[in-house]
This record gives sequence, C-alpha cells and structure tokens, in this order.
Amino acid sequence: MVQRQPSSTSTSPLLGASLAFNLAVLAWWASRVYFNVGPAVSETSIHSKDSWTRTASVEAEFAESFNCSGRGVVYAEMFFQGAHDAVSCICEDCFTGSHCEHVVPNCQAIVHSGDPLMFVPYWRQNSAASAVLIPGWYRIGYELTQRLIPGLEKEIRTLHKLVGNAVIDGRYLVVGTGEMQLMMAAYSTVSMEAEGLPVNVVIPPPYYDAYERQVKTIKPGTVTWGMPSLTLQNTENWIPLEVVISPNNPDGSIRTGALKHPRTRTVYDHAYYWPHYTPITGPLDDDLMLFTLSKTTGHAGSRIGWAIIKDHEVYQKMQLFVVLNSVGVSHEAQLRAAQLLRSAREGYQKAKNVGLDGVPTDYAAQQLLFHFAHTKLRSRWDRMNQLFQASNRFLIAQDRDPKYCNFFKEIVRPGPAFAWIHCQREEDKSCLEIFKEAGIVARGGARCGMTDRYVRLSMVDGDSAFENLITHVQALLMSGR
Ligand SMILES: *[C@@H]1O[C@H](CO)[C@@H](O)[C@H](O)[C@H]1NC(C)=O
Repeated sequence: MVQRQPSSTSTSPLLGASLAFNLAVLAWWASRVYFNVGPAVSETSIHSKDSWTRTASVEAEFAESFNCSGRGVVYAEMFFQGAHDAVSCICEDCFTGSHCEHVVPNCQAIVHSGDPLMFVPYWRQNSAASAVLIPGWYRIGYELTQRLIPGLEKEIRTLHKLVGNAVIDGRYLVVGTGEMQLMMAAYSTVSMEAEGLPVNVVIPPPYYDAYERQVKTIKPGTVTWGMPSLTLQNTENWIPLEVVISPNNPDGSIRTGALKHPRTRTVYDHAYYWPHYTPITGPLDDDLMLFTLSKTTGHAGSRIGWAIIKDHEVYQKMQLFVVLNSVGVSHEAQLRAAQLLRSAREGYQKAKNVGLDGVPTDYAAQQLLFHFAHTKLRSRWDRMNQLFQASNRFLIAQDRDPKYCNFFKEIVRPGPAFAWIHCQREEDKSCLEIFKEAGIVARGGARCGMTDRYVRLSMVDGDSAFENLITHVQALLMSGR
C-alpha cells in the first residue's frame, strides 16, 4: 500500500508532490470502493469521470486512512483549508503528538461521563456499511409536514421488531434532538394536560442527574423538581410526573413505577434497554417510552432520540413541543441515523443465530453490532468483577444476575454502561475523593441523589481509556488492601 501519511513537520515541495500522487491513487481506489456501496446505482453513472461523489469520497478516504497511531482521528473538514501538513490528530485521552505517537505519563482516568466511545472500533470496521454522502441540495427545506424522515422511521420500527425490545406496531413516533429534548417535550406535554395543577417530577435515587438539572431550569410552579410540600402530597391537587429510567442510570437496575398517586403520569427512559446492556426479556409496551441513538449505536453527537407513544393527543403535544423548540430535527442527523440503523439491520439479516463465544472484533467484521457491544461489555465487566471481588473495601453495588435474553437466545449477564461502586468502610465517607486521589475522576453519588459514598464509573469509554481505568483501579485496590 502507498504511504499516505502527510508529515506534520516538513513542507518540502517533494512531499506536496507525493501527497498529490497519493490523492490521485486514493481517488482511483475510492471510486472502486464506492462501486460496492449502492447496488441500486447504475454502473455507468459511477464510472463517469465527473461523478459528483468523487471529491467527497477522496476526502473521506483520506481522513479515514490518516495515521493517528491507532489512538486518534482526523475528520475530513480538518483539511478544508488545504494545509494538510498542519493538521494534527485529535487524540484519545492520555495520548498526544500530531500523530498521537506520545503517551502522557501519569494520566488520570476520566470516567465521569458516559461518552460511548467503545463503539468507535466497530464503526471503523464498518465504514463502508455506515457511510452516507450528503449533496448540497439534500432536504434543504423545513419540510414542515414531515417531521420524521420516512427512511428513519422505517429503520427505527424495523430495529425494535428485530430486537424485540418495544411494541411498535400501532404506536406513534416522535424524533427529537436527543432524548434530552424529548424529556423537555414530556414535561411540557404533562403540564399542558395538568389543567393548572402543579407538576412535580419525581425520580427515586439513584437517578441520572441531568434530569434534575434540566427540570430546575423550568420556572417553579409549573413543573418542579422533587416531591411537593407535605400538605399537598396527600391531596389530589398535584400531578406527579415520574421518570422511570430502566435499565437505570447509574446502577443498571430494572425499574417500574414507584408512585401510587392516582394522577401519576410516567415517562419511561429505556435508553439502555438494548442487548448490549441487559437481557431483553420481552417487548416493552409503556405509554410513553424514550430511546436514543447514543446508547444504541454510540452516536451521541448526532443528537437523535425518539419517543414511542400510545396516545394520539400525547403524540401531538410532544410533536408540537419539538416543532416550537427547534422546528424539527436536523435532516442530516436523521439521514445518518437511518443509515446506521440500516447497517445494523442488514448485518443481522445476513447472519442468523450467531452465538456469543466470539470476540468483539470478529462480530464487528460480521457487522453484528449487538454482538460486538455485548461481548465488549462482558469482557470489561469480567475484568472489573475480578478486581473488585478481592476487595472488601469497595463493592460493586449492582445486581448482575443472569437472565434469558430473547434476542441472543441464551442466558446472559447484564453489562451495564456504568459501574456503581460503594465504599464500605465507615471512615471512607467520600468515595469520590478516594477515587480522585487514585487518579480516577468519577461521578459522585451525591449528584445522583445519594451520597458520595457511591461513585459511578463509565464502562462504555474507548478501549485505551478503559485500559487506563483498569490500571488505576488495580493500583487503588493494591494500596487499599
Ligand atoms: C504512524 O506515525 C507514527 C509516528 O509518527 C510512526 O511511528 C508509525 O510508524 C506510523 N505508522 C504508519 C503505518 O505509517
């Protein structure tokens, strides 16, 4: 293979010439690769010298093959202004240098967020199946009568049927700019239907802290965070809006509604009800269920979420909120989401009844997204368990009992997206501090409605970040006896 890596230091004319040559070779190669992408497209149009996709595909291939030492990325737009030599890779945590060739010594493990970067190697292995090309004329209008691009709607519906995690026939779908926007739509919908009564959003701890922060941006009196005053609690003059996060963030537990109040409205956040994270025990059929691309395929940055809704009036109000809040959802993001879900579907249409004995890279090679993610999380959890089992200072405070998974057709253990750790010793009042001193930046339990005697660690970060976490956990457990 030709050397395609532009140097970051030299600007010699020779190098420029070699770069031009490499680009020409790439153009030829890209045209051959492109040939396989869309069987529906006629061969003559692809062969044509002025195929409109050529420049875009050359640039995309160039970015894909840029040498970041396997520890970082460059994106095509970084080359828009020409100066190829000046472009430096965006490196994963703990790596630096224009090609990510240097390791940062004593680098902290930053695992407080839930950035799903563990999916990057899968999509790197499946670039061809997941790529989209967007011409300048693509859906530039508002398309006010069509909020959800039909191609995306079909893929969402088909994927839920394939996985068997939600009842989708006869249900309405609303797409949102991530699940966060759909949560706002849900608060708005319930308050519109509350006939002037106060709405109180209630989530038993531990819960996902962003929902608390989100509700607190709304003027109290309409929608308020937490239980109302004791005097109001026993009356019917308020509307409880319970958010059931199941599997729960941070601890992965399977939840059902806890509130008994007769007027309770419930929003179900089922972001983690996918075979990667938990056994699929049957299709869920709640009134208002939320899902998100970020936890399904890992594309958190595309900001695509969807709501599955039974009631037509609730559907209309949810849709109205999205329309008035952001005039719908980016068409580009919807197109990309449709293609990603399509590739997952097509992978499973090609291969049936595949077991779980393989390793993640094999499953990525077979385009089996759920097998990839499940086995990756399984091997990560096995290692974490092994480490923590030997400790009586720190406890993994989660139920991970195996259950039969209808999707994988075998008994599997849940592989939650977060480890939820409890510090057992009386004197270890701040687990968060103990982890921080050990170089692990976690999320404290206090943010999740508990105390910092608990910490949440991300299990879904990139491979090198996870290795770094393991190294730090090992050191902490050794020092802590
Ligand atoms: C990528 O870059 C690094 C650092 O400059 C170098 O050591 C390595 O050999 C390069 N790899 C390839 C495949 O060119």
